[in-house]
Amino acid sequence: MTDSRIPTARLGETGPEVGVQGLGCMGMSFAYGPVDAEASRATLERALELGITLYDTADAYGRGENEKFLSPFFKAHRDEVVIATKFALSIPPDDPTRRIIRNDPPYIRQAVEASLKRLDVDAIDLYYMHRRDVNVPIEESVGTMAELVREGKVKHLGLSEVTAAELRAAQAVHPIAAVQSEWSLFSRDIEAQVVPAARELGVTLVPYSPLGRGFLTGSFTNADKDLTADDFRRQQPRFTGDNAAANAALLEPVRTVAEAHGVSLGQIALAWVQQQTTVHDLPVIPIPGTRKPSRVEENAAATGIELTKEELELLEPIAGQVAGDRYADMRFSSAGRE
Ligand SMILES: NC(=O)c1ccc[n+]([C@@H]2O[C@H](COP(=O)([O-])OP(=O)(O)OC[C@H]3O[C@@H](n4cnc5c(N)ncnc54)[C@H](OP(=O)(O)O)[C@@H]3O)[C@@H](O)[C@H]2O)c1
Repeated sequence: MTDSRIPTARLGETGPEVGVQGLGCMGMSFAYGPVDAEASRATLERALELGITLYDTADAYGRGENEKFLSPFFKAHRDEVVIATKFALSIPPDDPTRRIIRNDPPYIRQAVEASLKRLDVDAIDLYYMHRRDVNVPIEESVGTMAELVREGKVKHLGLSEVTAAELRAAQAVHPIAAVQSEWSLFSRDIEAQVVPAARELGVTLVPYSPLGRGFLTGSFTNADKDLTADDFRRQQPRFTGDNAAANAALLEPVRTVAEAHGVSLGQIALAWVQQQTTVHDLPVIPIPGTRKPSRVEENAAATGIELTKEELELLEPIAGQVAGDRYADMRFSSAGRE
């Protein structure tokens, strides 16, 4: 693609203007098989040239390794990038399939200091609660997050995988700039309650896994056969066994639309997510993850694709037909608490 920059959108009512597509950086250090630091660094630089300014990480990604990896890039471009990181999740070294969730104030304070240190910056632009610990009132956690804003450690607040009720309770304590939740052609449960609440409250939606963790690109069809033993997607019910075969067949309408536009399946998946901005009348800034400069170009180019009403209708039934949940334990998602 040419070097024209992608359009922009605002993070919440008072947050910064960012490229309408961000970059998910998780896979650069964690979860999706072998890492490639050199290609990842080139991807970061190429993304910025294309106008991608929102970069997504978390303290849990590689137990801090992802934040450390990104730090030199962030520091080299501090005024151009918007740094989003998260707290709440940790993965015990002796059991990589387990997740520990904490939202209590002392934990949040300890987590923000550790992230600031690893990132080696004075402030985090967007600080998310990665998951809800239902044992801590959300008002208490967001109250602590708001203190971090007042202290200048954090600029804006976000929540990931929250219910509409949790979002409303949080917003009553401090403005929430963004909700980050899974949203794609395969995962649409947030449309029922979370998206309407976000629109009403002026909160931007940041869809994660907009490419269905890569499945919607057709780059793998069965996690057991196609991905390495340590790949997180082998723990996800929809990408394995009979479910994977059934779900691969659901890509046919995506392929039809892609052929009509002369683009890739992934670009149609991204165009669909992006177009939810007009469907639901709220800012939507997906954060596809990639470690390859050519793919970041391809993904950024999807911001220029517009799907017709007929194409949207053709894609409409897909999510309702997906076999298998997003997570092995759906308590890990907001849908599990609604
Ligand atoms: N809040 C949360 O709980 C949560 C959960 C998951 C993810 N996230 C965030 O959301 C970001 C994006 O989600 P995700 O990485 O899970 O899923 P995704 O963006 O749906 O898909 C990423 C996968 O697709 C591949 N891919 C990317 N562009 C491609 C292209 N043009 N053609 C073919 N394959 C392509 C990537 O491989 P390569 O890297 O090899 O290109 C990677 O395996 C993450 O990086 C992370 O920052 C947040």
